[in-house]
Amino acid sequence: MKQFISVKDVTDINALVKKALLYKADPVKDILLGKNKRIGLLFLNPSLRTRLSTQVAAQNLGMEPIVYNVDKEGWSLEFNEGAVMNGTTVEHIKDAAPILGNYFDILCIRTFPSLQNKEQDYSEKIIHQFIKYAGIPVVSLESATLHPLQSLTDIITIQESIALNAALKNKKPKVVLTWAPHIKPIPQCVANSFSEWMTAWGETDFVITHPEGYELSTEYTNGASITHDQSAALKDADFVYVKNWSSYGDYGKVLSTDANWMLTNDKLAATNNAKVMHCLPVRRNVELSDEILDGANSLVTKEASNRVWAAQAVLSEILVNANK
Ligand code: CP
Repeated sequence: MKQFISVKDVTDINALVKKALLYKADPVKDILLGKNKRIGLLFLNPSLRTRLSTQVAAQNLGMEPIVYNVDKEGWSLEFNEGAVMNGTTVEHIKDAAPILGNYFDILCIRTFPSLQNKEQDYSEKIIHQFIKYAGIPVVSLESATLHPLQSLTDIITIQESIALNAALKNKKPKVVLTWAPHIKPIPQCVANSFSEWMTAWGETDFVITHPEGYELSTEYTNGASITHDQSAALKDADFVYVKNWSSYGDYGKVLSTDANWMLTNDKLAATNNAKVMHCLPVRRNVELSDEILDGANSLVTKEASNRVWAAQAVLSEILVNANK
């Protein structure tokens, strides 16, 4: 693997999941793989899970992680070619990124979308500028449109649950991605990415449900069943993935905060005793109810814990490729 910014960088999803689960069983089995290698983690936006799990993963591989909070500690970066930098930006990406490429062996970036300029966000301009100018493998820690480490984690978590449930082993599990209410405009990244990975994986009956106006880009949903009827979608579901996202069509807008879309135990009763997933952070009793989050069907803590093994599998693949 040369980089990790989408599912397109993965040749075999099941092999990567298997690798992650081997690391879960024996976290330091490849402690020498990253010896004398350094990984830079650049945050242009906040994070809890991604920041910490990727550091733990790197350390399990013997790498030295260095975190740089660009948003709080760094010079304000300019990403526009030919910019006359007489405004608020202080350093151009084409000056900064090659230096980072010399300091580190792998560069990881978190950069959220503006939710103001759809064309620019969906061009993934920022992460592509880092790739262009750093000259070393780049890993997305969530970019403008996708969150691939989260999606890999989600598939690992689904696979683990299937392995623990005999009734799910001999069927195609039904996985439902349901929109949930939120008070703020939230990126489409997690939903896009989950959909992209589920359709690429192809081992589930995958359904997306959301209110009208919340259609995701068809670039990521091709192959999914899509309905505005949440009740119909939830029927017989084995996994329910809950997530808010802002409108893609009416870009970045909150079109609905309808509390009826929040998952409750009453709604869960229509499922096949479905396990419930969410990437976190979650707005309790807005996006997802206490009764679900604190209930027996919630996978959210396990899911967040699995972030380490997803990151470790990806970093391992990149290190192996670099050592060839
Ligand atoms: N799920 C996730 O990416 O969490 P953080 O934003 O805390 O990293």
